[in-house]
Amino acid sequence: MPAATTSFDVPDFKMTLQNHANVFSSESLDIAAYLMLKHIPADPEIKHIIDLGCGNGVLSIQAARLNPQAQITAVDESNMAIASAAFNLQQHGIEASRTHCLVNNCLDGFTPDSADVVLCNPPFHQLSAVTDHIAWQMFCDAKRVLEPKGGLW
Ligand SMILES: C[S@@+](CC[C@H](N)C(=O)[O-])C[C@H]1O[C@@H](n2cnc3c(N)ncnc32)[C@H](O)[C@@H]1O
Repeated sequence: MPAATTSFDVPDFKMTLQNHANVFSSESLDIAAYLMLKHIPADPEIKHIIDLGCGNGVLSIQAARLNPQAQITAVDESNMAIASAAFNLQQHGIEASRTHCLVNNCLDGFTPDSADVVLCNPPFHQLSAVTDHIAWQMFCDAKRVLEPKGGLW
């Protein structure tokens, strides 16, 4: 991967996150991501976690650490985000065989009932417009892709 443009530490979670141009919150940890990091579930029954709108992969790293048996799918519409997430997962020692980093629109094309957990810190902007329509699409897609007892966080 070409050199990342920014890097910052998250001391509470022992992470250093590299970010390509235009990746969300590339100078510091987003406050909502910080809240979510404290509440990611850890359960040996969890087999598949999707990080929907993964940005630099911060939530994927912590989910992978807490659930070493689980497969992690990190999804973002941004190529730069996916390149950053793949690099950060690898830099934090998460085995490539457990991770799948994918450029995608929300969960288009994902198999119904195929995930135990969806983590989503959704976008509320599209360019300069404030909107919740992508967030709603993400929530509805999560409902379709989650197993009946799965959870959206
Ligand atoms: C609020 S940021 C969260 C990033 C990261 N998960 C975090 O917590 O720092 C939302 C992310 O959703 C991504 N996104 C926006 N629209 C999307 C779409 N239609 N499909 C997939 N990802 C999308 C953005 O590129 C951005 O990385």
